[in-house]
Amino acid sequence: MKKTSRLPGFYKLSVGERRHVASAALGLDERDFDAALEEGGLNCATADKTVENVVGVYSLPFALGLNVSLNGDDFVAPMVVEEPSVVAAASNAARLIRGGGGFTAESDPPHMISQVQLDEVADPAAACAAILEHRRELMQRANAAVPGLVRRGGGAVDLEVRDLGDGYIVVHFIIDCRDAMGANLVNTVAEKVAERVAELAQGRVGLRILSNLCDRRCVRVTGEVPPELLAEGERSGTAVRDAIVRASIFAEKDPYRASTHNKGIFNGIDAVVIATGNDWRAVEAGAHAYAARSGTYSPLCTWRVAENGNLRGSLEMPLALGTVGGPSRVHDGARFGIRIAGVTSSQQLAELAACVGMASNLAALRALATTGIQRGHMALHARSVAIAAGATGKLVERVASEIHALGDVSLSAAEHALARLNSAPN
Ligand code: MEV
Repeated sequence: MKKTSRLPGFYKLSVGERRHVASAALGLDERDFDAALEEGGLNCATADKTVENVVGVYSLPFALGLNVSLNGDDFVAPMVVEEPSVVAAASNAARLIRGGGGFTAESDPPHMISQVQLDEVADPAAACAAILEHRRELMQRANAAVPGLVRRGGGAVDLEVRDLGDGYIVVHFIIDCRDAMGANLVNTVAEKVAERVAELAQGRVGLRILSNLCDRRCVRVTGEVPPELLAEGERSGTAVRDAIVRASIFAEKDPYRASTHNKGIFNGIDAVVIATGNDWRAVEAGAHAYAARSGTYSPLCTWRVAENGNLRGSLEMPLALGTVGGPSRVHDGARFGIRIAGVTSSQQLAELAACVGMASNLAALRALATTGIQRGHMALHARSVAIAAGATGKLVERVASEIHALGDVSLSAAEHALARLNSAPN
């Protein structure tokens, strides 16, 4: 059975019904949802073995991003996020892009950079030459440090050296990490080869660590939306399309806007990164450095009118994600997230996350360029406020819709509404 990510009306179902529908759509056993997610994927005893000074665990909603068609196949995106609207917005925008033929994505091989810093190098030119002359030997030493990775088809693929001035040089070992994010592998390589590198350079060993600016591991996504799908109320599709292009140009011209624009992209990307047990700090560090590579902080996704009149988005960024190792070893939710994603490699997971990032960006720009985001946002935020006021069960929706209709989405308004509904005869 070919899996589908089109599940109309999914949002109207109860959590139990959603598990039922999603397991059928994804070919999973419904009981796997219960087993993986009931305790948030991590119990206290395991958490205590994971980091230090543990006093408990901390849960977040685990949701499904729908409608993603990527390179002709359907994917459901696992999303862990606390912000209302993010999942609905990404799913809606993915449906628009589906209407334009779906996302097209490609990605670099999973190559990470292992950095060895050397300083007090008396003759940097001679040091660089000596290191390059011993390239073969150094690559062999790098591979010897990670035999398991080499067995899986990865390992050192290149070596480069840069003179940073003032007696500092840095050597980059480029390591193919296959389906791992690779931080541990790459750090191991750096530590194992550093002494020999310093000997060749006649310098002092400094830091030995990966670079999170993993610009050898970029993902590129494009997606189109026919303008007629963008119409909103009084506004024609072409007017909305053109407003989105102007919003993109605003971000391209202004780092203050580019920062917020990229935050909207990370609403989607981080949700997938977290749901699959990946390191979102690493992803953010790499992507923001990449966004600033021209010297001006810039948007990671831009929008233009294509020759056929469609709105066309293009996203490019480094994205180092793993489908093996890391937290997925111990976190049932993360392992389940990877199963939901249904990807066959770390590269495909990065492509999926980037598609959700583009969808989130499109949704934000469409809302901002038309009615603004507060209307939709407040309707969902009202639910959290209702829960904070003590509403449970059906009362959550009733309190939320009352305070939203009132235009006062505050805790005190929710408490009043709840008190009134509780005292009203049934
Ligand atoms: C809010 O989480 C994200 C937005 O601010 C993104 C944007 O402005 O593009 C809506």
